[in-house]
Amino acid sequence: MARSIILNALDIGTSSIKMMTGQKDLGTGDVTILGQTQVPCLGVRKGEVSNPQEVTQAIIVAKEHLKKSGVAKIKGVLVNIGGSRLYAVPSQGLVSVSRADQKISKEDIQRVLQASRALNLPSNKEVLDVLPKEFLVDGEEAPVTPLGLAGIRLEAKVLLICVFSPVLESLGEAVTGAGLEIGGIIPSSLASARACLTPQQKELGAGVVDIGAGDTGVAFFEEGKLIDFAIFPWGSSHITNDIAIGLRTEIATAERIKREFGTLASSKGKKRVSKIEIPEKSLSFSPKFLKGIIEARISEIFSEIQKELKKTSKQNLLPGGIVLTGGGAKLPGIVEFAKQRLKLPCRLGRVKDIPGIEDSAFSTCAGLLLTGFDLEIEGGEGPHREGIGGIFKKIFKMFSP
Ligand SMILES: Nc1ncnc2c1ncn2[C@@H]1O[C@H](COP(=O)(O)OP(=O)(O)OP(=O)(O)O)[C@@H](O)[C@H]1O
Ligand SMILES: [Mg+2]
Repeated sequence: MARSIILNALDIGTSSIKMMTGQKDLGTGDVTILGQTQVPCLGVRKGEVSNPQEVTQAIIVAKEHLKKSGVAKIKGVLVNIGGSRLYAVPSQGLVSVSRADQKISKEDIQRVLQASRALNLPSNKEVLDVLPKEFLVDGEEAPVTPLGLAGIRLEAKVLLICVFSPVLESLGEAVTGAGLEIGGIIPSSLASARACLTPQQKELGAGVVDIGAGDTGVAFFEEGKLIDFAIFPWGSSHITNDIAIGLRTEIATAERIKREFGTLASSKGKKRVSKIEIPEKSLSFSPKFLKGIIEARISEIFSEIQKELKKTSKQNLLPGGIVLTGGGAKLPGIVEFAKQRLKLPCRLGRVKDIPGIEDSAFSTCAGLLLTGFDLEIEGGEGPHREGIGGIFKKIFKMFSP
């Protein structure tokens, strides 16, 4: 019997939206991409949907592209969320074990996670997700899951992913406006981490840095669990803006210059070019000047990453290293720069578990798809299902069109 799942992922990014449909063969575990597209979009600022109507239009175009490439049905999607008004707060919950035989049940785990959500948040903020860091049974640390253990008191230490409610509402409006049903909402950097980090790296201690156009997200893991998560409101488009100002040229030219000549690598050992000329724009500047502009902005972004690492006291304690991804990670020399600044092993992320995805700008989208498959396999049964599985459907029913 052919057993497979088909899912759709939608990555709403500041520079473009990306969409992907994939099929997972439950027998072999292989994932095949059935369709993939990227559409420019102006309705997103610093990772947040600022103009839902514009984003809706771009999603409709992306859907059409997928249909043309042969994807039959696109209804449910897993979608990302970004922007610096998404943040993690540590919290905890405590419940008494309910069964007479004092064996911890699924319901007890759900209740303790529910209890850990009860945090006083400002009125326009809400909890998007609860990520357990650790369970304690009668004060003792439990193994990965406390299910079936005997005890009286069950405690959970968690990270709450919180969001500024209007950001979530605009995102919902943009997606449902395009006739899609939201099956799950996953922070971009967590999706990228799913795509680019192995479970072994997460166990050892590792992090992902997703440099997008409008924001940069980081997520650090230890013992397989998320220990910290943050988003900074700067990305690679800010480098482009700085180049436009520094060279007094328009954004499109600055973007071209960044991609063609932008580098953080030192020119040591290479043939030196003393001037870069763009005759049609009457521009002439030194590579050193361009590197200075880029370095200033990247430095600022990495200072924030460094601060975040210090905050979690994990500097030098992430032996699995840092993986850089997102379109902004295509800047030559960025890996060396990151190694020096963070004093950790750093490398470029590659999407694992899906063959053929080479573009780092697609890591989030691939990670959304992979997270969707993980959740489907955990949460449901049935020989062949399309769309999104049970748990998430309930949570995000409010976004159904
Ligand atoms: N070769 C390159 N060198 C430097 N930067 C590049 C290169 N190619 C793409 N970029 C930059 O990558 C950015 C787009 O990356 P990505 O698609 O990951 O962002 P996004 O998902 O749209 O934005 P965000 O995640 O911040 O909302 C753009 O700012 C683009 O200029
Ligand atoms: Mg992105």
